[in-house]
Amino acid sequence: MTTPPADAHLPFADKSDPRFFGKDILSISQFSRNDLETVFAVAREMSQIVEHGGGSELLKGRVLTNLFYEPSTRTSSSFVAAIERLGGSVIQINNVTYSSVSKGESLGDTVRTMESYTDAIVLRHPEMGSAAEAAIAATKPIINAGDGAGEHPTQALLDAYTIYEEMGAIDGLTVTMLGDLKYGRTVHSLARLLALFNVKINYVSPAILRMPLEFVSEVESAGIEQVVTSDLKAVLEDTDVLYVTRIQKERFDDQVEYEMVKDSYVVDADTMRCAKERMIVMHPLPRIGEIATEVDQDPRAAYFRQMEYGLYVRMALLALVLGKA
Ligand code: ASP
Ligand code: CP
Repeated sequence: MTTPPADAHLPFADKSDPRFFGKDILSISQFSRNDLETVFAVAREMSQIVEHGGGSELLKGRVLTNLFYEPSTRTSSSFVAAIERLGGSVIQINNVTYSSVSKGESLGDTVRTMESYTDAIVLRHPEMGSAAEAAIAATKPIINAGDGAGEHPTQALLDAYTIYEEMGAIDGLTVTMLGDLKYGRTVHSLARLLALFNVKINYVSPAILRMPLEFVSEVESAGIEQVVTSDLKAVLEDTDVLYVTRIQKERFDDQVEYEMVKDSYVVDADTMRCAKERMIVMHPLPRIGEIATEVDQDPRAAYFRQMEYGLYVRMALLALVLGKA
């Protein structure tokens, strides 16, 4: 029998994990399958911590910045809840017009300012690549909470955790992404993440909102079967996870084009009748009209549960990135 290491009894966050500790979270590409398993395991511990006492003092004294240049309900609030449930606190800048950004301060100088006061910065910004740009300016961790039509890696982590918890595994599933696959950053990150598993991916969208080739080629080189179509019916019967997205109105240069595609798909009770009995419907939210409210009562509607999984995943990420050495 081997002797356990002297610190084996300590909770995970007392032994900082070099894969995460002090690291930026910029793209889902930086995660291996093994890393995901660690995040899921810690998220599960977090759900137990919340269930048993509401939180812990794991990150007592740690301060987070939430720097949001774009609107947010879930990402912003769940990071606040996550750090506070772990005993830390947060400085919220979620209306940059009331900060010195409106005087013309650059992103680099803004993150340099906030890292003088806090231990990590959660950043949402309308420009693709902005999180990477902020990470160059900052010495403390930057967590990408959505960079324009680029990526939303923490959403993909919580999406994968949702699939894992709801379906028991990710391998072997057929995932259908529906809606705005061109501008939707959540599906960009999720496609990259799913490429680490043995899945099939269907992309269903209007022709002008297809998944960008860059992502399709990357997923293809991982050996994943992919189908591109505009017809939901053609793939619905085989779908285990239907991942619905909002048409990203704010990303269109031409609002006439948006009007043309905005009502392309509505998932309703009829859609659900044609779907498998054991499947789930997910949505990063907010939804505008692409899932009818009549679907909310269906036990396969997982989008509200998905938000709660998101809290545990963000608690896990903060614990891993800021966890005590
Ligand atoms: N909330 C998600 C995002 O910020 C999805 C959406 O807005 O449609 O990317
Ligand atoms: N899913 C998501 O990112 O939601 P918010 O835009 O409300 O943060």
